[in-house]
Amino acid sequence: MSETAKIIVGNQTHEFPVLTGTEHEKAIDTRELRAQTGYVTYDDGYANTASCESAITFIDGEQGILRYRGYDIQELAIQSNFLETAYLLIYGELPTIPQLQGFRHLVLRNAAIHQGMFNFFEAFPNNSHPMAILSAMLNSLGCYYPEMASNNREQDLEHLDNAATILISKVRTLAAMSYRMKHGLIFIHPKPELPYCSNFLHMMFSEPYAEYKFNPVVDRALNLILLLHADHEQNCSTSTVRMVASGGANLFASASAGVCALWGPAHGGANMAVIHMLEQIHRDGDDGSRFIAAAKSGDRSRRLMGFGHRVYKNYDPRAKILKKTCADVLGTLGVSDPLLDIALKLEEAATHDKYFLARKLYPNVDFYSGIIMRAIGIPVDMFTVMFAIGRLPGWIGHWRELATSHSPIHRPRQIYTGSPRREFVPIDKR
Ligand code: SDX
Repeated sequence: MSETAKIIVGNQTHEFPVLTGTEHEKAIDTRELRAQTGYVTYDDGYANTASCESAITFIDGEQGILRYRGYDIQELAIQSNFLETAYLLIYGELPTIPQLQGFRHLVLRNAAIHQGMFNFFEAFPNNSHPMAILSAMLNSLGCYYPEMASNNREQDLEHLDNAATILISKVRTLAAMSYRMKHGLIFIHPKPELPYCSNFLHMMFSEPYAEYKFNPVVDRALNLILLLHADHEQNCSTSTVRMVASGGANLFASASAGVCALWGPAHGGANMAVIHMLEQIHRDGDDGSRFIAAAKSGDRSRRLMGFGHRVYKNYDPRAKILKKTCADVLGTLGVSDPLLDIALKLEEAATHDKYFLARKLYPNVDFYSGIIMRAIGIPVDMFTVMFAIGRLPGWIGHWRELATSHSPIHRPRQIYTGSPRREFVPIDKR
């Protein structure tokens, strides 16, 4: 006998099926609720609402578990790399050697951009935020590859392999160009022989007279940061990608919308906000205690950035890995950053403070990631761009999952709280 849930509306009892996920998570299937009762559910922020069924990522927020296609993030962090994990997220299985070689070849071959795209950078003001540039440029890829951005679902799916590798590859080139433009530097062309991350660092930091020197520690650290950001089920930006895709929009347009959603300080913008917070604490000569006291005021503008999470009510497993990587990378590079000392002090204080414990607020993925990116020379205003580069495979995987499902266009209902019906009043009578 399959499980059901009963909802009593007035003197009527309505029964609805209960869905059970792979890890035994439960959902009341309310797809017939309005037809049966005339009622809708209300769940501001969707904290209690499953918007879809997905086979890509599993998170257990209470246990601090994160798995991509069934593989624990801790195992992938040690044994895999960003491109292999990107393939896993998009296609559902770890690639064989030929599959990974083919995928890597497409990615490495697709790093250069169409000559016409260089002109966009002539027009952006130099102080443009790289996330604004990135969302514009990802969407404009559809203008250069119209056959992959037809908004004819069957045709766009036929070209998905190419569109995916174009996005994963060119996102680095476009990101590096936004950095070079901002600093008045000439653009550096990609070198296909370099591995994924080092090719990005080459395009960011090489000079005509001094090529960026490959550093295996830095390449590995950046690879890990991107892998840890690669997907996170129905977070704000991924849900946005699915929302846009549900209307039939192509992959480039959907990814561009994901960039816009990620930019906010409550979401992907937090990694920049963490560094600004740590720098402020350092400037104030605060040992963190004053900041912690202010963060407990409930004032949203004084929050401990990089702490708390909509789903994790335990230590974010990605933060644990990044905290260890922080120490390893800074130690190997011989970098001592006072911000790391402050971050460790803040964590020590907050994770023993009843305000944070009572609200189950722990470090999230953004708390340590910025310190590593700073150590490898990535400027703070590029941190959320790095998050977007990492999250692209997840967005692509979710676009593909939705595009191959029979999911209807996403169109939530609402509770109307505006004016009752009223007559129009001509302007001379108001
Ligand atoms: C990401 O969804 C994802 O998966 C996102 C992400 C991904 O990989 O895609 O994991 C990436 O976005 C991580 C989160 C990055 N954001 C930050 O670090 C910003 C700081 N964190 C907070 O703004 C907050 O914790 C959120 C937005 C992350 C989560 O907010 P919730 O779950 O909606 O919590 P809430 O706003 O309802 O707060 C609950 C309580 C409140 O106190 P009370 O009203 O109960 O007294 O906790 C307090 C809040 O004031 N609180 C904090 C706090 N976060 C919540 N207090 C101090 N510092 C904080 N950081």
